[in-house]
Order: sequence, then C-alpha cells, then structure tokens
Amino acid sequence: MNTVAELARTQTGAFSTAAQEGYRTISVAPASPRLGAEIGDIDLTRPASAEQEAELKRAFTEYQVLFFRDQKISHDDHLRLATLFGEPGVHVGGKTNSKVTDDPRIRIFHADENSKQVSGDVWHTDQSCAPVPPMASILYIHTVPPYGGGDTLFASMYAAYEGLSDRMKRYLEGLTARHDAYDVFGPGTPNADHPVIARHPESGRKLIYVNRGFTKRINEVPEEESRGVLEFLYNHCSLPEFAMRFRWAPHSIALWDNRCVHHHAVFDYWPNVRSGFRIQIEGVEPPRPA
Ligand code: SIN
Repeated sequence: MNTVAELARTQTGAFSTAAQEGYRTISVAPASPRLGAEIGDIDLTRPASAEQEAELKRAFTEYQVLFFRDQKISHDDHLRLATLFGEPGVHVGGKTNSKVTDDPRIRIFHADENSKQVSGDVWHTDQSCAPVPPMASILYIHTVPPYGGGDTLFASMYAAYEGLSDRMKRYLEGLTARHDAYDVFGPGTPNADHPVIARHPESGRKLIYVNRGFTKRINEVPEEESRGVLEFLYNHCSLPEFAMRFRWAPHSIALWDNRCVHHHAVFDYWPNVRSGFRIQIEGVEPPRPA
C-alpha cells in the first residue's frame, strides 16, 4: 500500500502552462505546483480596469492565493482591492492579537520585541468558527524582519483532498465538525458546525474543511475516533507536497481564499519587527457540503 506522501505525489495535479494562458492585462507566475501565483503588471494604488478585475478573479479561483510585490498601498487602496472580491468585514473574535485601526475593517498585524505571540502561528483558516467564515483575507506587510523570517506558509486543501485514499474520502464524506475559537478569542466568539469535506462554490472542487486552529470535534463519531481522525487530517493537510512558503519583502501583499487554503504565520523573528495591515472579506454562504 502507498504511503500518504506517495499518494499525495501521484494523485494531485500540478499547474500546467495552460493555466497561465489567456491573461492579457496582468501577468501570472505560478509560485508552486499546487497553489499560489505572483501577479504582476498591475498598480494597486489605482483602480483596476474591468478586464484586470475579471482576470484577478479568474487567477484567484485558479491559484487560491495571489501575491503582489512592491505595492505601497494606502488603507483606501487596500479596501478597494478587497471590494473587488466582496464586502470588507470585521473579525468575529472577542480578544485578538491583532488590533483595529480607526476603521474596524482594517487590522494592524504588528510584532516586535514586546510580542509574546502573533496571530496565526498555527495551521488554520481564518475564523472558521463563524457560521459564515470570511471568504478571503488580504495581508499587506510594509516592514519585514531585517535578517529574514516571518514567512507565511500556505497549503491547498484541494490538493490535500485529492491526496486522500478513496477509502478515506468515502469515510469523511457526509461528516460534520464543530469549529470553536473560544480558547483562542475568548467569550463572545461564535462557533459553528461545518462539513468535513466541502465543495468550493466557484471552482466546484472538493476540499478538506477542518483545521488545527479551530476544529474541535467530528460530530458523528465517538470522541476517541474523532481525535484520531482529526490528528491524521491535520498532519495530512500540512504535508509539504500540498504547501508553499511565501517570503515577504517590504510592501508585499498576499490575498488568500479561506474557503480552500490553510495558512500558518511563522513566528521565528523575535525580537525584530514585522508589521502590516489585514482586511478580511465577508463570506456570502456557509461552507457547502460536498
Ligand atoms: C494570519 O492572517 O493568520 C496571519 C498571517 C501572517 O501574519 O502571515
């Protein structure tokens, strides 16, 4: 029988040149075989043309996470980019590491010598504890640690699903799991049940929708079994075959799809400074069962 890593290698499709074809108003350079693309030929301090908007949306669906370099954006530019994809939203957590600016939709992601922890230092998808979790998030980092570090890891939950054995796919289909962030964000934070295997509303692809950050329990099986299956899934979802690592430079931006991507902010740069702003984009529906 194959190992999980062997299955991952044989069952997941890498991007081909066909995926880059047909972009006329932006450039799209895949960042890894499973997810991520660096977008060029666009100035985010100006409104996107209708054609650029359509191509950005197409790239977002195809690549799951988009990166932009050398974009010195204002809060208004950041909001305008978010609005191309949906309604900017507010964090559902009670207490958070990140803090709000004067505009509650724009949060400060800052770490320095006084930081004991940072947001997102575990594999997760943003606020899956919400009945309708944020559809996407856009992180703009203007200041990076001087000697490296502070990378963000991203993993494709399509690739992770495709890397499961057929037996495991059948076992998981139809199950639901409880997502709860009380221990992370405290009182006043919502919780919700979501399908373990979900279907992306735009791509139509199946994906694994549990994450180490917020998923607590598979509802339909005994506690012991739930613990074992979730531990298997968390390890599986973080296999390097499904992931990539983004190295920030000053004024870089990452725009990720919370519906099909896990991310992990690596906190390896203390006591140096890493600083920026994040906006999340409201979801329009709960995760769909597969
Ligand atoms: C997060 O959104 O979870 C943090 C991402 C990061 O700081 O790289």
